[in-house]
Parts: sequence; structure tokens; C-alpha cells
Amino acid sequence: MVTAIYPGTFDPPTYGHLDVIKRAAAVFDRIIVGVAVNTKKETLFTAEERVALINRMITDLSNDNITVSSFSGLVVDFACESGAFIILRGLRTFSDFEYEFQMALANRKLLDKIETVFIIPTEQYALASSSVVREIVSLGGDAGSFIPHFIEQGLKHKLGKA
Ligand code: COA
Repeated sequence: MVTAIYPGTFDPPTYGHLDVIKRAAAVFDRIIVGVAVNTKKETLFTAEERVALINRMITDLSNDNITVSSFSGLVVDFACESGAFIILRGLRTFSDFEYEFQMALANRKLLDKIETVFIIPTEQYALASSSVVREIVSLGGDAGSFIPHFIEQGLKHKLGKA
């Protein structure tokens, strides 16, 4: 049984993240989406809210090999606790590569048996990022091609735009 973790901030999760989750679920036996609690990023949604948003997003997949939980501390520790030695990351553009390369090597330095596997999302989501989505909603734009309606409503609420 091959388990992979998919760590990220997911503030908020987008269709791009969902695309990575769907693709990974077709390859690995079990996917654990890890919502990072104490990243350097200040988040709009709490960790519990981000876990709930991802859980709602994946309901339609009716795939019981995907679970979502939050974690704090090192991603390699979360992987070990989850019985996983594969870290999944989405690789959208060439500019993602340098950061991801550094992070993959740092994680391997921390734990040699960790492998980072990159998934390239569908091109229509290549330009999606959580901060782009937050900016669109904060400026009154329509983010419907990046996030489902319930997340857009949640964002509007957080941003005082509801
Ligand atoms: N679709 C949409 N957006 C995507 C995406 C995809 N497929 N893949 C990446 N992104 C975006 C995210 O939305 C995010 O956008 P933002 O910066 O506008 O918010 C950005 O790419 C990258 O964010 P994310 O994937 O959430 O990663 P991160 O850089 O916030 O890192 C962790 C999160 C949890 C992986 C990292 O902080 C970590 O490992 N923390 C634990 C501490 C640790 O172990 N440190 C040592 C590791 S070197």
C-alpha cells in the first residue's frame, strides 16, 4: 500500500489543488492531504476551516482513499506519522521549480528515504494560486473558474465583501 502526503497551506484550496488530488488518487493507494498550521504565511482561514473546505471539495469524488488532516512542525515528521514516504507537490510553472527543488532537497536532507513526486496540473489551472484567488475576490471579481461557489462565499465573508 503506497501512501502519499500532499502538504500545503490551502488558503483557500482551489480547483488546481483538487486537480492534483484527483490525479494523485489515481496513482497512489492512499492520499493524505496535510493542511499546514504554522507556516510563515498568515492565513485567512483557520486550519480547521481549511480542512473542512477540502473535505467538502472532495465529497463528489466519492473516493475513500483520500483523507485530510492538519499538521504543525516539519513536513517529514508528518509524513512519518502518516506512514508515508512520498511527498506530493504540484508543479505549475517553471518558476515553481526552483522553490520546489530546494524544498525537496531540504526534506531529503532531513529524511533520506523521503521522495518528492511532482504532479503537473491541467494547464487551465497552471495560473491558479491561493493569493491570486484572494486578490480577485477582495477586488470584487469573479473567481468562479478557480474555486467553487461555497469557497468564494467563505472568502467574501472573511474579506468583508459578503
Ligand atoms: N493549484 C493552485 N495553486 C497551487 C497549486 C495548484 N496545483 N500548487 C501550488 N499552488 C500555490 C498555492 O496556492 C500557494 O499559493 P500562494 O503562495 O498564493 O498562497 C503556492 O502555490 C504555494 O503554496 P503551498 O503549496 O501551499 O506551499 P507552501 O509554499 O505554502 O508550503 C508547506 C507549504 C506545508 C509544504 C511548507 O511550508 C512546509 O513544508 N512546511 C512545514 C515546515 C517544514 O517542514 N519545513 C521544511 C521544508 S523545506
